[in-house]
Amino acid sequence: MTATDGGPGGSPAKRPVAGDGTSIRPMDVDLSTRYLGLSLASPIVAAASPLTGDADGLRRLGDAGVGAVVLPSLFEEDMLAEDVGLAAGLEEGSRVFHEAREYFPDLAAEKGVADRYLANLERAKGLLEAPVIASLNATSRGGWTRYAKLLGRAGADALELNVYFVAADASRNAADIEAEQLELMSAVCRDAGVAVAVKLSPFYTAMANFASAVASAGAKGLVLFNRFYQPDVDLDNMTVLPRASLSRSADLGLPLRWTAILRPILPEDVSLGLTSGVHTGHDIAKAVAVGADVVMMASELLAEGPGRVQALESALREWLAEHGYGSVSDLRGSVSAASVENPEAFERANYTKTLRSLERLGR
Ligand SMILES: Cc1cc2nc3c(=O)[nH]c(=O)nc-3n(C[C@H](O)[C@H](O)[C@H](O)COP(=O)(O)O)c2cc1C
Repeated sequence: MTATDGGPGGSPAKRPVAGDGTSIRPMDVDLSTRYLGLSLASPIVAAASPLTGDADGLRRLGDAGVGAVVLPSLFEEDMLAEDVGLAAGLEEGSRVFHEAREYFPDLAAEKGVADRYLANLERAKGLLEAPVIASLNATSRGGWTRYAKLLGRAGADALELNVYFVAADASRNAADIEAEQLELMSAVCRDAGVAVAVKLSPFYTAMANFASAVASAGAKGLVLFNRFYQPDVDLDNMTVLPRASLSRSADLGLPLRWTAILRPILPEDVSLGLTSGVHTGHDIAKAVAVGADVVMMASELLAEGPGRVQALESALREWLAEHGYGSVSDLRGSVSAASVENPEAFERANYTKTLRSLERLGR
């Protein structure tokens, strides 16, 4: 990444005050943004989490001025369990985002999963003025196009497709897995009837190539990155423990880096949502500076409550005003890989520079 405009990731130099010489007041800063063709009043989106599956949570997010919400995912495994019985659902269970399923326990346990999801979507639409994005969590093409269509017709403003997959089968190579995923994405994008964003994991061999292929498959946005739950080992019982932990600002580095690399590569009309590790107003400014259209937050809002959105917006307004930006759009992309001719060499140079700076710690 390189600072081209004195943004938060680059030199601390402040931009001058507004063009007419007057200073910008935080209250006058325009936080609006566009995401998946939708107009959002704020770049803060509540990511899929228990908060967005709860009526009170949704109401409070709306009151705090959230830009949009993503509902907790409708899981392929739950649909399978409903369609072909519990056995099929359990067989697929190893791939499931376990901790997240817990947040729709009623959906997971009973029949009528899709109906309940649609009811939840309708409720969310009734409670919020901000756009409501439905979320599908799939691993295979299956019947997803049917559900994508249903959600689009039921009033979802857009869809997020979360392809949560652990490539743990040694007989399948990256090309096979990616081809299957692209087929799924392309079918969902074609049939959804609303814009689709694909939420990716950071674990692809050639991320820039795959991200471009996802955009070519019809995705109107990418969400970078899914957080995988990381199992722990219980030494007392010698078992594997599913472990859910909330993120920290230190987790921001990975999505920040890839947003900066991908923004200039992807077509301009493909939106970018940054998720994982956004906790403060500074984090949001960094995300926007590298080219994100929105940030998607779960951990911070779960820990601090939905009202935190308001405080974050104030912090962002203040930072923007103080640094001479009248709007989120003014800041967007100020720090990016766009001006670097050879991003791979640039990344490698930064890597060696970082290692050398750490060598000093060993002396
Ligand atoms: C408790 C919890 C439940 C989640 N449920 C879902 C889900 O249903 N679907 C999904 O795509 N992501 C889910 N996520 C991931 C979040 O949407 C988000 O992308 C991730 O936590 C990174 O953001 P953060 O660093 O702000 O937590 C969940 C995260 C948490 C912590």
